[in-house]
Amino acid sequence: MDERPIGVFDSGFGGISVLAEASRILPAEDFLFLGDNRNAPYGDKTPEEVLAFTRAAVARLIGLGCKAVLIACNTATSAAAETLRNDLALPIIGMEPALKPAALLPGGGAVLVMATAMTLKLDKFHSLMARYGQNAVPVPCPGLVEMIEAGETCGPCVTAKLNELLAPYLDRPVKAVVLGCTHYVFLKPVLRACLPPNVTLVDGNEGTARQLKNRLMQKGLLKTVNGSGPNARGKIEFMSTAEDRAMPARMRAWYNRFVETLDSACISTPDTVE
Ligand code: DGL
Repeated sequence: MDERPIGVFDSGFGGISVLAEASRILPAEDFLFLGDNRNAPYGDKTPEEVLAFTRAAVARLIGLGCKAVLIACNTATSAAAETLRNDLALPIIGMEPALKPAALLPGGGAVLVMATAMTLKLDKFHSLMARYGQNAVPVPCPGLVEMIEAGETCGPCVTAKLNELLAPYLDRPVKAVVLGCTHYVFLKPVLRACLPPNVTLVDGNEGTARQLKNRLMQKGLLKTVNGSGPNARGKIEFMSTAEDRAMPARMRAWYNRFVETLDSACISTPDTVE
């Protein structure tokens, strides 16, 4: 029994979608969420900058007593997870675009992998492509994280942006679209409407949450609670590097809204994490 919280970190709002899944799978655990909104988006920074931001965020979460850190960001995982694992003793769980389960879906057609330019450029993605990328097409999505950070997750501007990003790739049969950035999970309903109905949306959130649970179990770090009273549900706290002091309350509102609207338009599998 380990009562310390789990740290969850992202460049901004995207990781809230992973936090929701982690808390669903580990309801008794306490979570501290940290969004580096001041430095978002990470995708157009250098890998060295993202490593420095991620190191600082993880250090802050460790300083607050976290027993493990979930990097709920594909970009930060690609740029920083391996280095931080070599430097730190606590479990660090990361993410990668869920290309494997998408590639293994039945049927023919391309697998479009939407992600930040940095995720698509770094070694981690290249080795994924070498294993599962036979029919995969990388789709960099400049500008999308900025829209989501500005609070735009639906409406005509978002639809126009997604149509513009995807149009060059929809001239071929497509079987799946991988959401290789945690921010994009908030766009699922709009994406669904932009794509032919036979296209499956795939994200890595559930697989990542299961990996977190497995790692905590292996290390004997799970918080276990007897019974199902109010104390059986863990606490979730939100923090941000943004100067706007209302940000943690906004994050909580995003979290609550997302939990209410979790839909089944997307599949996630346990095989989608590193
Ligand atoms: N949520 C991050 C990811 O999964 C977004 C990256 C960014 O800030 O550009 O890659």
